[in-house]
Amino acid sequence: MAEPAAAPTSPAGTPPTGAVSGDAEAEDTVVRPRSRALRVARVVRETADAHSLVFEVPAGDGEMFAYRPGQFLTLRIPSERTGSVARCYSLASSPHGADPGLTVTVKRTAGGYGSNWLCDNVRAGSEIEVLAPAGVFTPADLDVDLFLAAGGSGITPVLSILRSALAAGSGRVTVLYANRDESSVIFGAQLRALAAAHPARLTVLHWLESVQGIPSTGQLTALVAPYAGREAFLCGPGPYMDAVSAALRAAGADAARVHVEVYTSLGGDPFAEIVVPGAAAAEDPDGAVHVVVELDGDTHELTWPAGVRLVDLLLSKGIDAPYSCRDGVCGACQAQVLKGRVRMESNDVLDDDDLAEGHVLGCQSVPDPLGPGEDMHVRF
Ligand SMILES: Cc1cc2nc3c(=O)[nH]c(=O)nc-3n(C[C@H](O)[C@H](O)[C@H](O)COP(=O)(O)OP(=O)(O)OC[C@H]3O[C@@H](n4cnc5c(N)ncnc54)[C@H](O)[C@@H]3O)c2cc1C
Ligand code: FES
Repeated sequence: MAEPAAAPTSPAGTPPTGAVSGDAEAEDTVVRPRSRALRVARVVRETADAHSLVFEVPAGDGEMFAYRPGQFLTLRIPSERTGSVARCYSLASSPHGADPGLTVTVKRTAGGYGSNWLCDNVRAGSEIEVLAPAGVFTPADLDVDLFLAAGGSGITPVLSILRSALAAGSGRVTVLYANRDESSVIFGAQLRALAAAHPARLTVLHWLESVQGIPSTGQLTALVAPYAGREAFLCGPGPYMDAVSAALRAAGADAARVHVEVYTSLGGDPFAEIVVPGAAAAEDPDGAVHVVVELDGDTHELTWPAGVRLVDLLLSKGIDAPYSCRDGVCGACQAQVLKGRVRMESNDVLDDDDLAEGHVLGCQSVPDPLGPGEDMHVRF
């Protein structure tokens, strides 16, 4: 699809507002974030310190809140100190089958602000501002055999993937779920019910630190070895994911098939308006490259000015680029550079293997051409 000549439209369908900067050609573009105030239909106390929030999606916003298993929502949490903070929570519900509404499960973090605010304050009827679902921690194919490893609240995206694979896929699934003790196990009853309903396809392995201690590398390697050939999804505390990743690699797993979701708190404000520098709107600015962007089955041909971040460029053109934090920490904007070179201004998500395969964070990527007028190709 060619670059649109008309005034750009924001992803939510509202036209971006142009902020006058004194020079008509260099006018900045202001894009409103894709957020909605969603009503909480129910709060479910899963354990002493984990609450699920079930959201109602208003009629007409179904498309905006369509999601893939393993994706997350970003919630705006009020704060008297800073106005608000933004926190991501994975969807535990499944877009496949007869699940209830859009559900996130929040586990209290000791001394944490956002998680405790949500568990203490949100009731049925509360309204919370939420960004559209995002994230790339999602299986490309639900029919393959899966190995899912969760620790603590890391079970939320794993449950979504598991429910989806059992409802809409045909492969076998093994879940390894590590917890401090039995009282910390979230969704224990649901996991038992799913295992009983799908005995030939689902195996759930619990690891309780209170009973078995912290798993050694040798124990983990023996445990994961039968599943090393499967597509693997890991979510939990950093040391646990490092240990499971290392065990999978020791057992011969292909690093490209091991997917990891890192839980972290956002520092920036993804609910703020996005200001895209006027240079992005210019026809042929100095130092720009020509880029072909593949996204959601569409192909866009764009002029990409020097210093402009790819997600900002796409949003300013009315193209629905995936993003959440826009700060290099959540991974929602992950893309692959097929031709050309970019420079990332920050990256807390991608490891050396990802970078070697050309994966980049679109929200942090600016063009870094080897020569003038270079053609680039990026796929989301
Ligand atoms: C993709 C993704 C998915 C996730 N999914 C889940 C999930 O499914 N379930 C889950 O439980 N967690 C999930 N998380 C983690 C979650 O986003 C939070 O990081 C976690 O809940 C801890 O947040 P917290 O605010 O409670 O703690 P912290 O971030 O540790 O809170 C401390 C921070 O809050 C600030 N702060 C303290 N008081 C205030 C105040 N009054 N006003 C403003 N700031 C203040 C402090 O300066 C400090 O920076 C996910 C994270 C990511 C990135
Ligand atoms: S949007 Fe979060 S890393 Fe880019």
